[in-house]
Amino acid sequence: MSDHNLPGAPYIGYQNQNLMMENVALESLLAEHGTPLFAYSKAAMLGALEEYKRAFKSRKARIHYAMKANSSLGVLRVFAQNGCGFDIVSGGELAKVLAAGGKAEHVIFSGVGKTRAEIRAALNAGICCFNVESESELDVINEVALSANTVAPISLRVNPNVDAKTHPYISTGLKDNKFGIAHDHALQTYIRASKLKGLKIKGIDCHIGSQITEISPYEDAVSLVLDLVDSIEANGIHIEHLDFGGGLGIDYAGETPPKADALWERLFALIDKRGYSDRFIFVEPGRSLIGNAGVCLTRIEYLKTGEHKNFCIVDAAMNDVPRPAMYEAFHCIVPLTRSGPSPAVKPVLYDVVGPVCESGDWLGRDRELSVSVGDGLAILSAGAYCMSMSSNYNSRGRAAEVLIDQSHVQLIRKRETDADLMRQEM
Ligand code: LLP
Repeated sequence: MSDHNLPGAPYIGYQNQNLMMENVALESLLAEHGTPLFAYSKAAMLGALEEYKRAFKSRKARIHYAMKANSSLGVLRVFAQNGCGFDIVSGGELAKVLAAGGKAEHVIFSGVGKTRAEIRAALNAGICCFNVESESELDVINEVALSANTVAPISLRVNPNVDAKTHPYISTGLKDNKFGIAHDHALQTYIRASKLKGLKIKGIDCHIGSQITEISPYEDAVSLVLDLVDSIEANGIHIEHLDFGGGLGIDYAGETPPKADALWERLFALIDKRGYSDRFIFVEPGRSLIGNAGVCLTRIEYLKTGEHKNFCIVDAAMNDVPRPAMYEAFHCIVPLTRSGPSPAVKPVLYDVVGPVCESGDWLGRDRELSVSVGDGLAILSAGAYCMSMSSNYNSRGRAAEVLIDQSHVQLIRKRETDADLMRQEM
């Protein structure tokens, strides 16, 4: 590929004037599959996974893909076939993982509000571990396990009160967040848990936030968790695994987060120095495995020029790519066919917006584009938290999805039809 600057490179980039994903010109997908359309590069997913695998090569460790980032079966299958476990947060996610060929014994169950039915289903399936987020949840899991005549494997999700330096909506490791058990209370909660007959303590867990682009918040969290392990083990409770969650950021707008292997080299130095090299390491990455591997393709419906603003109205919207509306997130937006050095259409500054009836329905602001009606655009870094957070708002069917493997294009989700929109209603 000639252009290495786009997020998602080297799997996404221009060859001559055409935006390619692996060996496929993305423009060529539109006639058959329509828009909006999500496309994912299998090589980009495996490349991102490889960085984690390299980090853990000579270690006891397991990568649990946080499937909330993208829970499409075709995506789950790729990670399952390549040795991933899964981090789930609902009974629905458990069902999807099992349907995609994931192993129950490699599933960890996070989230603050697990229902009794979800806990029962996870126990029945035989998952690896529940990450428990409160004392009352501890009691419920104990009760459900005892009534099923079994013992539930657990770890406590500890809230270390460190600032992940990210958007407030996706920061989770601060005292005021709803997540985890406060660091100051964790020891007494472990002691209490050790006395409950329906529970078996396996490990300790923390997850401090998402789209983290620096190493230092991780180092702070690891130190604080290991301080706790010191005192928990001094009380005779053994901690088999250390789970440091997910959160590693990706490139949306030129961010340069550390690579997973570079991050883990630093964290292992800390873990080794503290004498915990022998523990099993768990991680729960979502965005960093799939975010840069996906794009959302859309077509320009109208160009509208105004006194102060010009609008490029496309057929994707906040129901397909909700991150700009929800977090004012930035996604690069580029043409599928780029103009040469002297563009036929002069560049104009546009707000790229969708057809949904809200001013919040924007995908990119103040973007310089040389485009005409009918042109295709790609919204980059759209692999994570786009399709999985999509909705049917404005009675819009969800987009279709394809998985690209070199020159091969596989449809992994059909576009929703009008009949799909009404299927469950009477
Ligand atoms: N583990 C737990 C317990 C989590 O809550 C999350 C994400 C992850 C792992 C994976 O984090 P990642 O590696 O993907 O950063 N919708 C937001 C992101 C929400 C993240 C929620 N938790 C966004 O679009 O930015």
